[in-house]
Amino acid sequence: MAATRTFSIIKPDATRRNLTGAVTKMLEDAGLRVVASKRIQMTREQAEGFYAVHKERPFFGELVDFMISGPVVVQVLEGEDAVARNRKVMGATNPADADEGTIRKTYAESIEANSVHGSDSEENAKTEIAFFFDEDEIVG
Ligand code: CMP
Repeated sequence: MAATRTFSIIKPDATRRNLTGAVTKMLEDAGLRVVASKRIQMTREQAEGFYAVHKERPFFGELVDFMISGPVVVQVLEGEDAVARNRKVMGATNPADADEGTIRKTYAESIEANSVHGSDSEENAKTEIAFFFDEDEIVG
């Protein structure tokens, strides 16, 4: 199967605890290759735009506040079946439900401060990658 791409965010709870390398190692050990990466401070407008699909959800305001509470690392990951592979190593959204050995079981603090985001479909991966990266910033 050909390599595909997905989009990942290492969230503020993880950057605050200096876990960028530890989280990235788990991604790499799962067979994903970091083909683009940048550490940014998201603006409120970016966070609201990125999570626009959740804007009617009761947790939207807190989610945006959290995502701009510190730096994040946005990444493009490449690998065989990258979207599913990344979701498997991330674990369930709520760390209480995440399997042993997953990033969220290992590092997440709560359903909100859950250390990583990953695209949930190939289509959303394309949209999310384009939200943060120009094609010439991605080097496979
Ligand atoms: P993420 O994959 O980044 O997509 C939306 C985020 O909303 C999700 O991870 C969670 O961190 C966050 N979130 C906060 N509260 C909730 C909740 N009650 N249900 C689902 N997601 C939540």
